[in-house]
Amino acid sequence: MPALSTESVTAGYGRAPIINDISLSAELGTVTTIIGPNGAGKSTFAKTLVGILRPMSGRISVNDVDITRMPGHQIPRHGLVYVPQNDNVFKRLTVRENLEVGGFASRSNTDARMEEILGIFTDLDKAKEKRAGFLSGGQQNLLAIARALMIDPAVIMLDEPTAGLSPAYTDVVWNQIARISQLNTAVVVVEQNVERALKHSDFVHIFVAGRNHVHGAAKEIASLDLASIFLGRSHAN
Ligand SMILES: Nc1ncnc2c1ncn2[C@@H]1O[C@H](COP(=O)(O)OP(=O)(O)O)[C@@H](O)[C@H]1O
Ligand SMILES: [Mg+2]
Repeated sequence: MPALSTESVTAGYGRAPIINDISLSAELGTVTTIIGPNGAGKSTFAKTLVGILRPMSGRISVNDVDITRMPGHQIPRHGLVYVPQNDNVFKRLTVRENLEVGGFASRSNTDARMEEILGIFTDLDKAKEKRAGFLSGGQQNLLAIARALMIDPAVIMLDEPTAGLSPAYTDVVWNQIARISQLNTAVVVVEQNVERALKHSDFVHIFVAGRNHVHGAAKEIASLDLASIFLGRSHAN
């Protein structure tokens, strides 16, 4: 049973669907990345998973529990958390307070989990008492990820966690993503940089014009003519 499974999910903002028939699954301990041109519906898919948008049809499940019509605030409790692209930390709270807020929905011991998380995000450990608003953009993104991890989710969905970061910090974030998957989590990442997506993921899905156009193991995807696929000129499977 995959940690995350979506079956033929169709959703949009008004009557017309933006994403159509999206089926995708993600296993614990793996990194699954969604790439595709701007406007392909990657963020719309992410928002549909976490209850910000209601699917018109299809099914979404986490650890085999149907969350398709669940209110958004209940979804983290069922093991799915989402880190949006922007405004993802409480800037006036300290790093420690942000993590405490993140652990609020958790049934387990927040202090122990915080230690575990800070053991991975060592930069944040050093800045524990700093207000989040004073961290660099990259560190704020890491804090947002760390906060989402506080509830020990089965699935974490990250929307462009490296957007706007320097190449060096982009590597830092991707290295952390690898470590997070090793915490027995399914990591699903939306990424705009194709090379990095292929390098750091186990599985890659290419969304084009609202459809899950092509998907496969990163190694298989790397051998395809991605330029044509992005332009919607080629179907690989
Ligand atoms: N809040 C919104 N209301 C209406 N349409 C939207 C909204 N957000 C995005 N869209 C439209 O949905 C389509 C897909 O956008 P999005 O999911 O953000 O793409 P991506 O993340 O792949 O760049 C675009 O055509 C965009 O204009
Ligand atoms: Mg987007």
